[in-house]
Parts: sequence; C-alpha cells; structure tokens
Amino acid sequence: MGGMSRQTGIPRRVALLGLAGVSAAALAGVLPAVAAARGLDTIEAIKTRRSVRRYTSRPLAEADLREILRCGMQAPSACDEQPWRFVILRDKALLARAGEINPYAAFAREAPAAVLVCGDLELDRCQGYWVQDCSNCAMCMLLAAHAMGLGAVWTGIYPLADRVEGFRALCGLPAHVTPLALLVIGHPAEQPAPENRFKPERIRYDRW
Ligand SMILES: Cc1cc2nc3c(=O)[nH]c(=O)nc-3n(C[C@H](O)[C@H](O)[C@H](O)COP(=O)(O)O)c2cc1C
Repeated sequence: MGGMSRQTGIPRRVALLGLAGVSAAALAGVLPAVAAARGLDTIEAIKTRRSVRRYTSRPLAEADLREILRCGMQAPSACDEQPWRFVILRDKALLARAGEINPYAAFAREAPAAVLVCGDLELDRCQGYWVQDCSNCAMCMLLAAHAMGLGAVWTGIYPLADRVEGFRALCGLPAHVTPLALLVIGHPAEQPAPENRFKPERIRYDRW
C-alpha cells in the first residue's frame, strides 16, 4: 500500500486508514504501529505469499474470517457486478468430504475452515465475466489471509465438471450458483519460502 494517492498527495496507506488530518510528525510515530497492527505492506505481501497446506489446531476467529471476506468483496469486477457468493465450511465432516471431491485438497480435513467461492450467474450481468470477477475476489482473500499472518491455499473446482457437481451437491447450491474455488484457511504450521518468479523474457514492449 505504498506510494502517494494521486488525488491528494497523501500517502495511500494514510488515506486508506482515514488519518489524512493527522500531522506528519504524529503520523511518523503512529504509522509503523498501525502498519504492524493492520498486517504486511501490500508489495511485501504479494512477494512473500505462498500456498499453505498445513495448519495448527488453533481455530480461525470469526473476526479474522470476516476481515478476509471483507477484503475479497473489495475486488474489482466487470461493471462492478460483484457476482460472488460464499459458503463457509467449518464442519469437519464437510471439510473431509471436500478433500474427497478434490483429492488435491485432502489436507482440508485438518484445517479449521474453508471458504467456497462461488459465482452467482443471476448477478453476472456483464458479458460473462464472473470467473474473472470471482478469481479477483479469491486472490484478494489469499493476500489478506497472508497479510494477517494466516495460511491459505486456492484449491481448484471450476471448470472441472465432477468437482463443480460434487461441491454443488455437498453444499446444496442452487443451479444459478457455480463453485469456483475452495480456499482452505488456517493458522500456518508450515512456512514455504518466498520465490522470485520474475522472468524478464516473458515481457515484450509495444509489439510481440
Ligand atoms: C486455479 C488454481 C487451482 C489450484 N488447485 C489446487 C489444488 O487443488 N490443490 C492444491 O494444493 N493447490 C492448488 N492450487 C495452488 C497452486 O498449486 C499454487 O498456487 C502454485 O503451485 C504456486 O505456489 P504458491 O501458491 O505457493 O505460490 C491451485 C491454484 C490455482 C490458481
């Protein structure tokens, strides 16, 4: 969240925290503490996020879950249609069943919670962009979880028909709601090292 707000010249994090009226000297003292309380700097969070698939037995606080959902619902979407819907899984039997529908999510049985991110096709009024919209939402949630010191991983559902139908049946989703991803979330029991994936050869300027 570094840099300056283009409209106001106020550091962006300050503007976002509603501290714009506070003096610079006061801010210098306040900001590091506020930043620590609010989580990692955005650039740092993006560069250090990794998928976490092992969790401690500590429950996921409802307030933390709501903060993650709050960040997800802040995502950009086509025509601002916000077509996302969520089903929170906390029941151990459901989490275990999720790991049967997607064997690559078997670790969900050990997690305190997971969020089924779904697209509501009745809310998708902007030319079929629901997958991109809900992916943005899911990514914001992964970054929020990481910035808050939690561990999370995207486990894939859509467009695999058997997984879509499996989660539809598991959670009783109506026909106009399609599950996109199951985000498994908990307190991390592993800390995968950050990876620098920057590949300059993938970049062209102006023409291929
Ligand atoms: C669309 C999608 C589907 C994924 N499905 C799974 C999955 O089913 N199980 C899993 O453990 N990880 C899954 N992942 C996580 C990727 O394996 C992971 O993001 C990738 O290996 C890069 O590692 P990182 O997230 O630690 O940077 C998925 C990620 C995406 C974006």
